[in-house]
Amino acid sequence: MDVKTIAVIGAGTMGRGIAYAAAFGGYKTVLEDISSRVLEQAVAWIRQSFEEGVARGKVEAGVPEKALALISTATDVKDAIRNAELIIEAVPEELEMKLELFTIFDKFAKTGAIFASNTSSLSITDFTDITVSRERCIGMHFFNPVPKMKLIELVRTPHTSEETVVTCREVARRMGKEVVLVNEAPGFITTRVNALIGNEAFNMLEAGIATAEDIDKALKLGLNHPMGPFELVDLVGLDVRLNILEYLHSTLGEKYRPNELLRKYVKEGRLGRKSGRGVYEYPQPKAAEKKA
Ligand code: CAA
Repeated sequence: MDVKTIAVIGAGTMGRGIAYAAAFGGYKTVLEDISSRVLEQAVAWIRQSFEEGVARGKVEAGVPEKALALISTATDVKDAIRNAELIIEAVPEELEMKLELFTIFDKFAKTGAIFASNTSSLSITDFTDITVSRERCIGMHFFNPVPKMKLIELVRTPHTSEETVVTCREVARRMGKEVVLVNEAPGFITTRVNALIGNEAFNMLEAGIATAEDIDKALKLGLNHPMGPFELVDLVGLDVRLNILEYLHSTLGEKYRPNELLRKYVKEGRLGRKSGRGVYEYPQPKAAEKKA
């Protein structure tokens, strides 16, 4: 299928990043969210990311204008998906919500459209098996921050057709991304490994083996990780990480049992950068800056 328009459902951290990548790839992009305020923030973030890219010499001048002109927004899923050949959902990791969305896609999307999910751990089959279009359902797992991260994990269910995989490979290429192909399994490749590293870092912190700063420093300078596990969990969200660990614990077993300190932080609202405090503290932008 020739993809011209991509609909991205959900304009949170991942959704807005995926919309950036879609527009960067030259696709007409419709970004949907139930909140028009979130949509405004998302478009401002996309504009700012392009500007930063140009300022740092990573994006060619002229590209942002062209890409931004390709983006439109919608607050209704049916409106957003109507003309899309590829729909990528990036809503919270709740099975019920995804089931509801895929039912809508099935009913209202264009004939032959591909339905993709950015889930980072859930079983794609669990919410795509209900569609009559399951051969056109696939996982497209992006990474945060999307503009800078080069990988997309393509997650193929037993029903995903080869044509669907080929089309998504081409979309990824135009977005400037590399692809790995994974046969569906909990946590795919990256989430499974990352969850273990992140959980072990919390186990060490809880046991008083080293400070958070030194654990981060050790992984950065000793193992060449670009970010330490605590810097990374603050970026991804402690609630997101806990959610993933709970799912992997229930599907893959004991070694994924979420650390208690992580649970405690989440309970206290220490969710990472987005809440101003995670493992580390982050100065909150003033009200005027917050709007941008
Ligand atoms: N638009 C397009 N491309 C851009 C860009 C922009 N605005 N800004 C940068 N790039 C490109 C650059 O050209 C560069 O590509 P090349 O190497 O080909 O030149 C690439 O993006 C990286 O850019 P930088 O080298 O400038 O990036 P940086 O030095 O600022 O490093 C970082 C930032 C890449 C995020 C690095 O700190 C890092 O890798 N951190 C780890 C992040 C991580 O692990 N994320 C995964 C989280 S887990 C997840 O997301 C999955 C989940 O399900 C929860």
